[in-house]
Amino acid sequence: MADFSILIEPVYIATIFFFIIGLHRMSHPKTARSGIVWAGAAMLIATLVTFFTPGLTNLALIAIAIVIGGGFGYIAAKRVAMTDMPQMIALYNGMGGGAAACISAVALLAIASPVTASLAVAGGVIGAVSFSGSIIAFAKLQGWMPSRPMTFTGQQAFNMAVFILAIISGILAVMQPAWVPLSVAVYLPLFFVLSLAFGLLMTLPIGGADMPVVISMYNAFTGLAVALDGFSFATPNYAMIIAGIIVGAAGSLLTLNMAKAMNRSLSNVFFGAFGATEETGAQVAGSMKPIEADDVAVMLAYADRVIVAPGYGMAVAQAQQKVKELTDLLMSKGVTVKFAIHPVAGRMPGHMNVLLAEAGVAYEHLFDRDEINPEFPSTDVVLVIGANDTVNPAAYRQGSPLYGMPILDVEQAKNVVVLKRGSGKGFAGIENDLFYRDNTRMLYGDAQETVAKLVQALKKL
Ligand code: TAP
Repeated sequence: MADFSILIEPVYIATIFFFIIGLHRMSHPKTARSGIVWAGAAMLIATLVTFFTPGLTNLALIAIAIVIGGGFGYIAAKRVAMTDMPQMIALYNGMGGGAAACISAVALLAIASPVTASLAVAGGVIGAVSFSGSIIAFAKLQGWMPSRPMTFTGQQAFNMAVFILAIISGILAVMQPAWVPLSVAVYLPLFFVLSLAFGLLMTLPIGGADMPVVISMYNAFTGLAVALDGFSFATPNYAMIIAGIIVGAAGSLLTLNMAKAMNRSLSNVFFGAFGATEETGAQVAGSMKPIEADDVAVMLAYADRVIVAPGYGMAVAQAQQKVKELTDLLMSKGVTVKFAIHPVAGRMPGHMNVLLAEAGVAYEHLFDRDEINPEFPSTDVVLVIGANDTVNPAAYRQGSPLYGMPILDVEQAKNVVVLKRGSGKGFAGIENDLFYRDNTRMLYGDAQETVAKLVQALKKL
């Protein structure tokens, strides 16, 4: 068979450019789909070219693993509901971290040099933490375990002790000094068990509300672990190093942006046990005032400016198509309609953008929080469709768990109509005094049904 191994490095370099183009295209909704295709193609090419590595054995096993993993990934991604996407990302990211930890284990069994071994230890601990931490994040989001923070006295000191012991075991496994009583066969598994335990312990005290930030952070960890592993071979693997660094950097930036939008500092996310508090977050006074769809339709028809603030409930109700129909109808009647998009509305980054794009809402009608907030005071009607935390004025009140979270200032509009099923709380589990304000009316029901009623009522006007 011809030797194509000379092609491996240049092809790896080419795939790096594909990854970068893909990432760049993912930064805008219009080009995001093609960005995924670029990055996916790069991954496929990098995987295929790796088969030409000289001395590669167990080809059949590798092929079987790819078929099983690829098949599972394809079917799961096809079936997953949009609302379950964060769990799926947590699971896939965990697999990446686990794979990185396995590569470290192989590198540690065949130590090339002290430097590569140290990098493998670092890759191993980070990959293992990402694996077990992501599995806990998955279980919390999937409802397989309580999403509330699980804490105990002395937790941080205990976690730190486990981490230090993991690192010491890793060092002993690499150096194998003559004076230690046990062999590498003990220290190596111990290193991985302690690292996995640390990931688990580190994630248990974090509440469900902070999980997206945590998942994104573990995603960055996985990238870092892969990059470190790329260095841990006798001949560095440049595809792993560069792709890992890209994932690490992109994941870190996303983590910081999300933490900012959810109003958590990273140290608070990891050590603050958000959600453990008993604070309800709102100073509720008065009562929620219901309204009928026909009356809302009249308000909308006579409005000059309407803003739609969608949230998680719109995703659950799959109301985006009806919302598009409603807004098209309003625009045809000469009403100016805009969408206010909060960065963490829904359950994943860009959740609202994806749903509305799917429904055919033009990107030009979507506005970020900073752009739209000054427009609320001059807006006649805001339709809050299944949003809660992202429009909760408790964010301005010291002592509230949401305090400091940047929100959509919908309460400043002349009229606010909230579409939700009842008195259910948002993700953070706290009351929302917006619903009790004088200028707020509640249109109860599943969002798809209530928006459909609005469309019908508007057509009759
Ligand atoms: P949430 O605060 O989650 O509130 C959603 C509201 O939708 C609920 O109060 C619920 O009230 C209503 N709802 C549920 N099903 C509905 C249906 N079928 N029809 C109509 N309404 C329905 O929503 P949000 O404002 O989008 O905030 C998102 C929250 O999730 C934030 O706290 C954010 O930090 C967190 N989070 C965000 C992400 C990302 S990255 N986006 C990921 C995880 C968590 P009823 O039960 O009364 O209907």
